[in-house]
Amino acid sequence: ASTVRVDLTGVEEGQRITVKWQGRPVFIWRRSPQAIAAAQTVSLDDLVDPVDTSRENPNHEAQESALDENRAADATGEWLVVIGVCTHLGCIPLGQDGAAVGDFGGWFCPCHGSHYDTSGRIRRGPAPRNLDIPPFELGVDLQLVIG
Ligand code: FES
Repeated sequence: ASTVRVDLTGVEEGQRITVKWQGRPVFIWRRSPQAIAAAQTVSLDDLVDPVDTSRENPNHEAQESALDENRAADATGEWLVVIGVCTHLGCIPLGQDGAAVGDFGGWFCPCHGSHYDTSGRIRRGPAPRNLDIPPFELGVDLQLVIG
C-alpha cells in the first residue's frame, strides 16, 4: 500500500490541514487544549458509536472503546488524524477551514446533517459510525507516515 509522509513541525496549535491518502482526504488537527478537553470529557454513554473496531482504527489490534485516548494520535492528545469521509454516504465533512464545524466542535457534513465532535465521533445526524482512522505512525520528530 502507498504511504504518505507529512511534516507536522510547522502546524500551529488549533490548525487543521488536509492531505490525500489513497484518494481520500485525511484530516489532521493539532487540537487546542479546549478541543482536547471537550473530547476527553465525553462519556461513552453519550456516543452513538462507542466502539472502534480494528478495521475502523487499524492502529489497534483489537476493538477499543471510542474514548479519545484511543483515537488521538499521540499520548498528549494534541494530534488527531482521521479520514475525512462521512460514514453516512461518503460526503466530505466541513470544518477543516474552521467554519461550519457543527454543534460538537469537530466537523459537519452538509449532505444530510451529521455532526462530529472534536474526536471525530458521530454525535448527531444519520451517520452510523465515527470517522475512521487511517493506519499511521507519528514520531516525536512530528513526521507523520500514513499507510
Ligand atoms: Fe454525510 Fe449523509 S453523507 S450526512
